[in-house]
Amino acid sequence: MNAFDEDGEIVQRVERYYTGRFEEFGATPRGVDWTSAESQTLRFEQLLKVCERARGPFRLLDFGCGYGSLLEHVRARGIDCDYVGYDLSEPMLAHARERFGGDGRAAFVGPHEPLPGADYAVASGIFNVKQDVATEPWRAYVLHTIDRLGTLGARGFAFNALTSYSDPERMRPDLHYADGRELFDYCKRRHSRQVALLHDYGLWEFTIVVRK
Ligand SMILES: C[S@@+](CC[C@H](N)C(=O)[O-])C[C@H]1O[C@@H](n2cnc3c(N)ncnc32)[C@H](O)[C@@H]1O
Repeated sequence: MNAFDEDGEIVQRVERYYTGRFEEFGATPRGVDWTSAESQTLRFEQLLKVCERARGPFRLLDFGCGYGSLLEHVRARGIDCDYVGYDLSEPMLAHARERFGGDGRAAFVGPHEPLPGADYAVASGIFNVKQDVATEPWRAYVLHTIDRLGTLGARGFAFNALTSYSDPERMRPDLHYADGRELFDYCKRRHSRQVALLHDYGLWEFTIVVRK
């Protein structure tokens, strides 16, 4: 087990943070720290570009699925996929299992269950809130988690992160602002030649899409 995986201190703090948000705000965008349903959906649209060329059914892993909002989105769009949602927060998972229990092509797994690989792995919002973890260990955690996504998504993966191009006066010390150029380079050199950096959708963040 790597120090950045489920039993590591960073991840345990992340779990406590998001479970707290969920307990306060419930199964709403605020309960996973988004300001609106519109921005949550806009992020999904960027991430799903990784599988837009897929022909036929595929397996989608939602790494950091929260209460399963992406599943609702892919079903509403008629995307033909088997879905696995993975999250650290047991209360969120319990809610998702209850809510989507009728979907025979969907499953939710927690941190101490086997995490199945998929054709595509996507992650929305998992790199943003570092709390008081110092920048360097958080940056190492981000790179380690990108490598996990690379292993889990056989045909590709995608993730988003807050951008270091944010206006300085609006930046907060508890959030992590990633360098999109660094992460693009990292993915290009380590994971695939087919990498897109999307930084054109109006939020203070970017999405990286890696196709293999
Ligand atoms: C900002 S919320 C977004 C939830 C969902 N992706 C959405 O957009 O509605 C981030 C979620 O990722 C989960 N998460 C963060 N880091 C994780 C990790 N290393 N492994 C699994 N889940 C993680 C948190 O528990 C939280 O539910």
